[in-house]
Amino acid sequence: MRIFSGIQPTGPMHIGNYLGAVSQWLELQKQHECFFCVVDLHAITVPQNPKELELATRNKVIELLATGISPEKCALFVQSQVPEHTELAWILNTMTPLGELERMTQFKDKAKKQKTEVFAGLFNYPVLMASDILLYKTQAVPVGQDQAQHLELTRTLAKKFNSRFGETFVEPKTILKKEGARIMSLKEPRKKMSKSDKPDSYLGIFEEPESMKKKIMAATTDTGKEIKFDEKKKPGISNLLTIYSLFSKEPMQKAEKKFQKKDYAFLKKSLAALLTQKLEPLRKKKRELDSRELYVKEILRQGQNRASSIAKATMQDVREKIGLLQS
Ligand code: TYM
Repeated sequence: MRIFSGIQPTGPMHIGNYLGAVSQWLELQKQHECFFCVVDLHAITVPQNPKELELATRNKVIELLATGISPEKCALFVQSQVPEHTELAWILNTMTPLGELERMTQFKDKAKKQKTEVFAGLFNYPVLMASDILLYKTQAVPVGQDQAQHLELTRTLAKKFNSRFGETFVEPKTILKKEGARIMSLKEPRKKMSKSDKPDSYLGIFEEPESMKKKIMAATTDTGKEIKFDEKKKPGISNLLTIYSLFSKEPMQKAEKKFQKKDYAFLKKSLAALLTQKLEPLRKKKRELDSRELYVKEILRQGQNRASSIAKATMQDVREKIGLLQS
């Protein structure tokens, strides 16, 4: 299968990104043809400081490498270095009904959070995302739950284009994890964990253990004392249990049993200890990579080359199909 997925450069990688998306990428890269992309052009749909954006993009690549994304097994690249993404986005924009974009819940949420003006790029964001995916004739896209609606739009646009201009794009399927597709905020466990909320609501994968422990100990829990998985009645405890179960690779039932007669503080302390232990090798790898600027550049150059050769061929086909004059 050909796989494509992306992550925004801004903000630290948090355990929602890792458990919902990146942990799937790590499995899929073992057996499939994978393209993983740091989507800097998506990040600028809200205002960014140029110097910080550049640093964040490089840092996100390093974070992905440190989690185990392997340049030998996949193409790892930066979106803006393959300009065909934006060319296809323009073309797909000309066939995207406004109504489809108005329905997007992520746009509504982000527009609400945005303190300054809301720009057209934020509204058209899902079209750029569809272009990222369709450009590579992607068959499957591993993401968290919050991206599922964008994937539906991607399939709609593929169908529209194919029926108007002939078979061109593949309709990609969405791959969601059974558990971990929606990790919740530590502070408001009925909302998803998000990097645009306050730092005490998320756990960074590369965060120092002390800071992580503080946040976990201060996480919102539920009324009652019992430790059991029940998303409706116990969203806070269920979220902590999910994170525990995924990082320990113990099934939920086993995790529940382990904490059956214990109190909330014990669960929190155990989770902090588990994360400290599991994430230490990743932190170490990141520290090593931080100083290897040339190595990281070379990986991105190779990723760009692999992505470009497919992107160029797709765009040539698309240009011919829609009647753009060939040079
Ligand atoms: P981004 O950068 O917000 O998040 C990267 C990935 O992490 C997942 N994720 C979560 N999963 C579980 N629980 C959470 N709380 C959580 N928060 C985030 C996201 O679902 C995502 O898979 N629009 C995308 C980036 C993108 C993309 C693409 C993805 C651009 N083009 C093409 C796939 C294919 C985004 O902003 O992800």
